[in-house]
Order: sequence, then structure tokens, then C-alpha cells
Amino acid sequence: MCGIIGFTGQTEAAPILLEGLRRLEYRGYDSSGVVIGNGTKLTMRKKAGRIAELTKHLAASPAPGTCGISHTRWATHGPATDANAHPHFDTDGNVAVVHNGVIENYMALKQTMQEAGTEFRSDTDTEVLAHLIGRYYQDDLLSAVKAALAHVKGTYGIAVVCRREPGVIVGARLGSPLVIGIGPDGHYLASDANALAGYATQVVYLNDRQICQLDAESWVIRNQDLDTVDSPLQDIGQFLGIGDAELNGYPHFMLKEIYEQPETIANAMRGRLDDGDATAHFGGLNLDIKQLRSIDRVLMTACGTSYHAGMVGEYLFEELARMPVEVEYASELRYRNPPIDRHTIVLAITQSGETADTLAALRESKRMGHTTLAICNVVGSSIAREAEGGVYLHAGPEIGVASTKAFTSQSVTLAMLALYFGRMRHLSHAQGTEIIRELRRLPEVVRETLRCHDRVKEIARKYAHASSMLFLGRQYLYPVALEGALKLKEISYLHAEGYPAAEMKHGPIALVDADTPSVFLVPRGNVFDKVMSNMQEIKARGGPVIAVCSPNDRDVASLADDVIPVPDVPEYLQPIVVSIPLQLLAYEIALVRGCDVDKPRNLAKSVTVE
Ligand code: G6P
Repeated sequence: MCGIIGFTGQTEAAPILLEGLRRLEYRGYDSSGVVIGNGTKLTMRKKAGRIAELTKHLAASPAPGTCGISHTRWATHGPATDANAHPHFDTDGNVAVVHNGVIENYMALKQTMQEAGTEFRSDTDTEVLAHLIGRYYQDDLLSAVKAALAHVKGTYGIAVVCRREPGVIVGARLGSPLVIGIGPDGHYLASDANALAGYATQVVYLNDRQICQLDAESWVIRNQDLDTVDSPLQDIGQFLGIGDAELNGYPHFMLKEIYEQPETIANAMRGRLDDGDATAHFGGLNLDIKQLRSIDRVLMTACGTSYHAGMVGEYLFEELARMPVEVEYASELRYRNPPIDRHTIVLAITQSGETADTLAALRESKRMGHTTLAICNVVGSSIAREAEGGVYLHAGPEIGVASTKAFTSQSVTLAMLALYFGRMRHLSHAQGTEIIRELRRLPEVVRETLRCHDRVKEIARKYAHASSMLFLGRQYLYPVALEGALKLKEISYLHAEGYPAAEMKHGPIALVDADTPSVFLVPRGNVFDKVMSNMQEIKARGGPVIAVCSPNDRDVASLADDVIPVPDVPEYLQPIVVSIPLQLLAYEIALVRGCDVDKPRNLAKSVTVE
């Protein structure tokens, strides 16, 4: 979603800001802009569309200077136009603001200001903030920002510059991340540490309700009372290497990330499997054994692909740990008032650690006194910092908007957690040892699974222009059916639905015709025969069938039109293996349909608004 990058230092700001914005492109956006200060002159350039448009605009009409802020906007209030792109000026052009988040009371504020004669140039909520800061400005930008924010309800990560304070950037956050970068050429302010790799050597995260000020030589973070806050500096190498956020020869980040999975799955397990006790270990749960034993229910909460991983977790915890699990969309949970007892833990699952609804659900659960844990990929993200304990995925940056490697790492992490809780309850040492053995095989099995790519490519060519697709699976593979359909919709814009295979008789079967293929997830297992019957029902109605199945499965091959064999693993690990051909299928169909795989329309990598 929206991204912020600011720089103040010794060198020209424009190239740094443009490169930073390019690195934030993956978050999803539809316009971008910069404002750069040169002495007491602020030059603004902004454009709807891709950053390439802004780059062209800046080449034709340069914005010189060594201090600036910039933004990628994902439209919320008003369409993606040049006028609505950030930054926004106050009336006098003294103050310019870029903003992530949503000002919820902007209508009331705008009306009051309009009645007092202020003219607005955009439809955005952000412009309200620019005018407010402008009104409060006397001779100190930081105080003006603080005073303006006192009137605001909602969420924000902002960067502000002022004509009368050359070289100064002020930032503030509430619910939307901001990080200061410290580098040899100056200081940076960004919404995502990814934008700073190769520029900053150290980073400092702001917490909610903190405000910061930077210039070329210094930086400071203050609390609401404007007292200086001591914030820990962290080495940026801890978060990512420069190469991680690059394509390394792959045509798209999504494909690169699909192929990274043998390694990312191994990383999720590294140092966590304990052969001696036949269990898993986690350094960051921050709960003692007594607290862990007293947990008798898990409430998982997440959005998008992470929600599907949570559903896989439900099956895993039920089977391996015999623990009841409920999985709830974070956007629903945050406004529910579920009766959760003292022995329930709330587990947030999130790749980015910044999804607004997941963060809000976590905070609400904390407020109600529940123990909160998180499974998270981005180190230092808001959810990672606010949960009482948790497990990092160590999957490296996921740049492709369609989540792939995070899903398999989340699933393997949930399998390890289920093993851990299972071993505290009823799983025997021998059962634990067997599960560890299967987990250890996974990276190699996934490597082998990736060999289905050529087969998937052929199938993609055959069905890329289907009118709609069904994804059908049962038990552990029901969430994978949902995930397969989500992947396809996200990047190819082909309508798809995921369903529990037997449930399709209660509606979706009406869609079945020669133009509506069904992808059946049918490797050998407990419900194999049942899924085969469901497949017959589709075939009987003339629907083409693509089957993801066990190797050399003649029964499936005799019924399906196309098969994608994948290696056999125990059912509790099938979600990981079976999701791989579905990721590749979505990718290949998107290519045939000419879609921009890494920048799908309307989507954002990190959804930082409600
Ligand atoms: C967005 C992304 C999805 C992601 C979801 C949840 O919709 O496009 O890929 O699954 O947010 O994100 P999180 O970072 O919380 O896992």
C-alpha cells in the first residue's frame, strides 16, 4: 500500500527518493510524488500512474535540492490523479506532507476549514493535515505537527517538510510504520526498511505516538510530551541484504520467491527441531512451561493468504496437538466480542507484520488481557514488536504482491508449533521423531515438486482463457483450494473459487461447463476416494479436470484431463507441497494473459488501512 521515503543530507535527494520509491513499488500504488527543498524553495512533482511517469516528469522538470520527501499512493479518498497524489501543500505552500493511513475525521475537519475560507485542491484526507499543520506553524515545524495531530482521529505515518526550515524533515506515526535510517550521506525516513538497503547502515523504528525530526547531521525521536526518547539503533543487515530485494536473474519476484521455497522452508526450521526430545523449540515464545501447559485453545487471526495458513494451522493443531482452534479474519475479530477465556491464546499470522486489521485485532486481544503471539516474517515490524512472543519465519523479504513463500513458511511453522504443543500433551516420542523426520525431508521434497513447472506451463496455456475456475480439496487441502483460487484471482484476474470438494454440489456445480475447469487436489490420503467421487460428479457434467495427485496415480489419470503429480508426504504436510503447483499455475496463467505479475491492479502488498 502507500509508501514513504524521505532524505536529508549531503547529496541530491531526487535520485535517492526515486530509487526508494521503486523499492516500495511492490507494496502496490497508483500514483507517486516528491517535494524537494533547495534553500527556502520547495519544488513539488507528482504523477498518476507508475513511478516511470514521475521519473520522466522529473527528467523534464527537475527538482533540485538535498532534502525531500516522497510517496507512493494507493487511492483511498479520491481517484488516482495527479492532484490527489502526495505530497500535499498547505494554502501558503509553506508546509508539504506525505501520509500513509487514513484520517477518519477528515470530513468534519475539512468542513470547518472550508467554512473558514480554506480552499482544497484534492479529494484526499491528507490535504486536511497539510492545512492543519500550516495553520499551527509559527516558527517550529515539530510543534506545529504535534499540535495538528492532536485534532486527528485515525492512523498515520507522515513525513513533513517546511519552506522556512530548510533541511528538516519531521515524521510521526500512529498505526502506520516509520523507520529512520542513518547512512554516510545523511538521514532517511521511510515506511519500510526495504527502501533503505544500501543507503542506510542502521535503522531506528518509531513507536506509535512518537514524533521525530531529522536533518543532515542529527536525528531525534520524541514522545507526546516532546521528551527525547532513547530508541535502540539496529544494524540494517539484520533485516535484509541488498540482493534480497533484487530479482537475481528471475523475470519476476513472484517466480523468484516460488523457487526460494526449499531454502525458506529450511530457514523456518533451522535450529528449531530437537531430536533428543522429539519436539520443536522456539526462542521467542516468551512463555514459561506452566503458562504453555495451561493453554487449551488457540484463536488464530490473519488476513488474505496468512488467513489460509491459519486454516491449515487449525487442522494441524487439531490432529497433532488435539487442541481446539478457531481461525477468524482479523477484520472481523477486531469488531467482535468473542467470549475468549483465560486459557485461550491469540495467535496473529502475518507476513508483513503491518496489516492494519491484524494489528488492530492483536491490540484488542491484548487489551482484553489475552496472551498474544505472532507468526511474522518482517523483523521489527509493528506486530512483531507488539505481540508478547512469537516466531519469525526468516523467509527473507517477500516482494511479489501475491504471497507464496510466506504461506509455505507459515504452514511449516504451524506444523512445528503443533508438534511442540502435541509433545506437551499426547504425542509420543516415537510420533514426534517421525514428524521431525518428515519435516526434515521437506526442503528436498519441495525442490522435487518444483520440477512440475514445465507441465504446469502447458496446462496454463490450455486453460488461460477459461471463463472461471474451481479449486476443490478436502480437509488439509480445503484451505489450499482457497489459496489456489486466491492466487489465480490476484494476478491473472481470472475468476476462481475455492471450495471444499464435496460442498461444490451445493451451488458452484451450477457453474460447471466446458469453459470452467476444476482443479482437484487429490493426492493419496484418507479422503482420496471421496474426492475421486467428487471428481466424477464434475466429469459427468462435462467440466474439464486438472488434478494435483500422487506420482503415477493411474486412477486419477484415467479420470482427469490433465495431471500434475507431486511427491507423497503425510497429509499434514500436503498443504505445503500441493500449494506449489497452484502458485506456478497462477503465475503462468497470468503471463499468458499478459498481466503484470508483481504489480497486480488494485492490490497492495501490505494493507495498512482498514
Ligand atoms: C495483502 C497481500 C496478501 C497478504 C495479505 C495479508 O492482501 O496482498 O498477499 O496475504 O495482505 O498480509 P500479511 O502481511 O498480514 O500476511
